Amino acid sequence: MKLFEDELKDIYWAEKALTKAIPKMIKNATDPSLIDALTNHLAETEKQVIRLVDIFESIDKKAVAKKCEAMEGLIKESAEIMDSCEAGAMRDAGIISAGQKVEHYEIASYGTLRQFAETLGLTKAVTLLAATLEEEKAANQQLFDVIITVVNIEDAIIEK
Ligand SMILES: [Fe+2]
Ligand SMILES: [Fe+2]
Repeated sequence: MKLFEDELKDIYWAEKALTKAIPKMIKNATDPSLIDALTNHLAETEKQVIRLVDIFESIDKKAVAKKCEAMEGLIKESAEIMDSCEAGAMRDAGIISAGQKVEHYEIASYGTLRQFAETLGLTKAVTLLAATLEEEKAANQQLFDVIITVVNIEDAIIEK
């Protein structure tokens, strides 16, 4: 239970940080499908923050954020990638790469949290965590679809 609460605080910090980081990715992106995917996921992320408050409530705890070193690192790295890439296809590819790393971290966190909740018999938390987990998986897939269908890899290579 203590570990469940600690990890909940970690992802709460991470989601709040992402509501500030994703807009920077949107500003740097050029491909319309990428901008779309990020914009949709920003709205989802804002709802996930609220959903986390509900999860804390479901276990009679106040929502508290604890700094997530991993997400801070991933966000910092995404800023570095954007800085080091030329605007256009290369930067879009960099944003997708950084975004997928973020989604994988979230998938790992929510997958574990959902399992913990199941083990602890926290039925309401299981449902809420499963909903967010599905959104994270879909966001990851959407970013993947953008890179294989829209970003023109040949142009990106030629521009190198
Ligand atoms: Fe999220
Ligand atoms: Fe996400």
